[in-house]
Amino acid sequence: MTGQKKTILSGMRPTGKLHIGHLLGVLNNWVSLQDEYHCYFEVADWHALTSEFANTKAMSENIKEMVTDWLAAGLDPEKSVMFVQSQIIEHAELHLLLSMITPLPWLERCPTYKEQINEIKDKDLSNYGFLGYPVLQAADILIYKANVVPIGQDQLPHLELTREICRRFNNIYGRVFPEPMHLFTKVPKLLGTDGRKMSKSYNNAVFISDSKEEYTKKIKSAFTDPLKMRKNDPGHPDGCPIFMLQNIYSYEETVGIRKDCESGALGCVDCKKILLDNLSKEMEPIQEKRSKIISKKGYAEEVLREGTKKADTVAKKNMAEVRESVFGKNYV
Ligand code: TRP
Repeated sequence: MTGQKKTILSGMRPTGKLHIGHLLGVLNNWVSLQDEYHCYFEVADWHALTSEFANTKAMSENIKEMVTDWLAAGLDPEKSVMFVQSQIIEHAELHLLLSMITPLPWLERCPTYKEQINEIKDKDLSNYGFLGYPVLQAADILIYKANVVPIGQDQLPHLELTREICRRFNNIYGRVFPEPMHLFTKVPKLLGTDGRKMSKSYNNAVFISDSKEEYTKKIKSAFTDPLKMRKNDPGHPDGCPIFMLQNIYSYEETVGIRKDCESGALGCVDCKKILLDNLSKEMEPIQEKRSKIISKKGYAEEVLREGTKKADTVAKKNMAEVRESVFGKNYV
């Protein structure tokens, strides 16, 4: 049945080590898709460059750390192709051809673009590459003729643009690309240890690579319900970052935890102990795997090299078809 498997492509910018929000929201989902689909998972280093063009020194280390987390979470190089965008030059060629057929207003009205230009003041985003970010993303997806793209809700505008660009290409040059569908994951946004959204840049994240001591310390000092000053005060679990994690890691115990928090029977210290027990049960196998990966020196790099070779073959084949449909046979 291999021939009937659909193709998946997704990617992440290499920002370094990943936190448990990435694990729950993205990686577990990718892992579960590996058997049912032909999967391509991309390290989007050119995308990172649209804002980090002046900080390229850390990129190589960031790539290695991110892919080590991918593997620790269960991505399997026997099943999925993991590759580095910048090493497959055809992505740039398709990006260029797509840029010719993409009207400027489509990019200027893209909500992610407008939002970031307005909100991010500490980085220079007034460049041509940043405006074209979604065109590059469309090239990533279309070059593998992906049918399905697992993404977070925030990426939907980019996928809609990909579909518009895809339709326009197929209308002008003939049908080359299938129209890709998005696939959302259900996991809620995690709150970090300070009650804000979990994010590396807020310094409030529990990382996949944190040792037991590290995440224990983070959980123990985490923000909880500010109205629950003493152990026996009635608590308000909704909005408490620890309760949010209980919901994910403590399964059927959660109902009792809510009840006892609200009644004042359960204090935050004991509540955190329950969470830590359950969290460490889930973290241990991942961390064991992670240490094995790290102990095999050069393994993550090898996975990327092999994956990049496989992706390159497909990208070259599909790009030949794109060139022929744009320029015709025997062009020069
Ligand atoms: N823009 C995506 C993000 O920031 C990363 C990405 C790049 C991507 N190329 C992709 C995601 C192709 C899905 C498909 O999360």
